[in-house]
Amino acid sequence: MSPAARSKPTARLLAGLLPDRALTWEEHLAAHGPLAQPGPGKHLVVEVERSGLLGRGGAGFPTGRKMRTVAAGARRTVVVANGAESEPASHKDHVLLSHEPHLVLDGMELAAGAIAADQGHLLVHRGSSALPALRVALAERARARVDRTPVTLHELPARYVASEESALVHFLNGGDAKPTYTPPRPFEQGVARRPTLVNNVETLAQVALIARHGSEWFRAVGDADEPGTLLVTVSGPGTVDKVVEVPTGTSLEQTTRVAGVDLGAASAVLVGGYFGTWVGIGQARALHLTQHALRAGGGALGAGVLLAVPHGVCGVTELARVARYLARESAGQCGPCLNGLPAIAAALEELAGGSWDPRRGAALDRWLSLMPGRGACRHPDGATRFVGTGLAAFAEDVERHQRGMICAPGARTGWLPVPATAEGVWR
Ligand SMILES: Cc1cc2nc3c(=O)[nH]c(=O)nc-3n(C[C@H](O)[C@H](O)[C@H](O)COP(=O)(O)O)c2cc1C
Ligand code: SF4
Repeated sequence: MSPAARSKPTARLLAGLLPDRALTWEEHLAAHGPLAQPGPGKHLVVEVERSGLLGRGGAGFPTGRKMRTVAAGARRTVVVANGAESEPASHKDHVLLSHEPHLVLDGMELAAGAIAADQGHLLVHRGSSALPALRVALAERARARVDRTPVTLHELPARYVASEESALVHFLNGGDAKPTYTPPRPFEQGVARRPTLVNNVETLAQVALIARHGSEWFRAVGDADEPGTLLVTVSGPGTVDKVVEVPTGTSLEQTTRVAGVDLGAASAVLVGGYFGTWVGIGQARALHLTQHALRAGGGALGAGVLLAVPHGVCGVTELARVARYLARESAGQCGPCLNGLPAIAAALEELAGGSWDPRRGAALDRWLSLMPGRGACRHPDGATRFVGTGLAAFAEDVERHQRGMICAPGARTGWLPVPATAEGVWR
């Protein structure tokens, strides 16, 4: 079936969503049905493998395979739900946690049962506005005696790299929330040195639906090779931070239209977030939202972010702002981050300020080509992809700045979200 034929919006995760508050335990059961492992003779790990579910946290790793590997590692394992959503342009996990907390907690409980975990940890950023809904949901579940596996709620430092999985594990083990040099990876040896399943909260919510309805049901919508639905955060001319649920394989054009974005009023689209790829509008219209389709074009689905920049926003200034943010957010442990990211940010700031030295351009190109694959985590890879593809997508703005003309008259800046950095806070 062609992607276009499967492109209608579909509410699965967001079924029963209330606009202003979380579903109570009873409302959640009414919307999604009783909490249940797959029927007789079925095992959740096998069902998740058959479903073809890929992780929704960024890398798109097959969830069933990860569950099987963790389960094979030891008699007692650990489940970690990654709800930090450090990607500034992403809001999907926040919507799930603050409106459908029980779906995520169901996923944790069911995954724990399937892989013999005896502890669960759910992490969000410190001070997250989803915390009240999560505390209420946990109390409701305790009263209803739903869970066999105890879940602990944690507040993680609000840093971009603190939600990388080895950083989460290091934090839960009492250290700083900084990525660690690997191996062992968390699935081999994670929390309390036990095999640890780290999954994004949307992935776990999908697991809760697969347990209820089965792998065939899951595969009935979306792309044949990467089935199911996907939460996407869309911003652009006409809308800001709108979270929509669409079948995988839906075209970017249809997804942005459903969210209310006018692509005709945009100059470029960022696909995937600050680890993602910039594309021009012509190319964006031809894209479909699957890992394989985007990778084939050198991109990535990342955290499911689509950010269409309106005409009149200066691309160079925006790239400089985000590059500086990504430089500030590094854990400062590896050469590419310590030296490369600040140098890239400084070069872009010079360009944005209209004082361009071509020697800086040569150094910028060198950093962009040398840095990927050289850090302990993928932070430098994502940051260089963001900057490299951005320079190409905003070529006209770049050329104008190189000629010292600074921004076009009336150009807007400050459009891309750049949070303040909690300097020095890693615990
Ligand atoms: C710098 C960095 C930041 C990350 N931040 C997040 C995040 O905020 N949320 C998330 O789910 N995954 C994040 N990831 C990916 C996690 O390391 C991990 O792959 C993911 O939680 C696994 O879940 P999944 O298999 O369900 O996708 C990040 C990765 C990197 C390199
Ligand atoms: S690559 Fe950067 S963010 Fe990742 S561990 Fe090294 S210094 Fe930290």
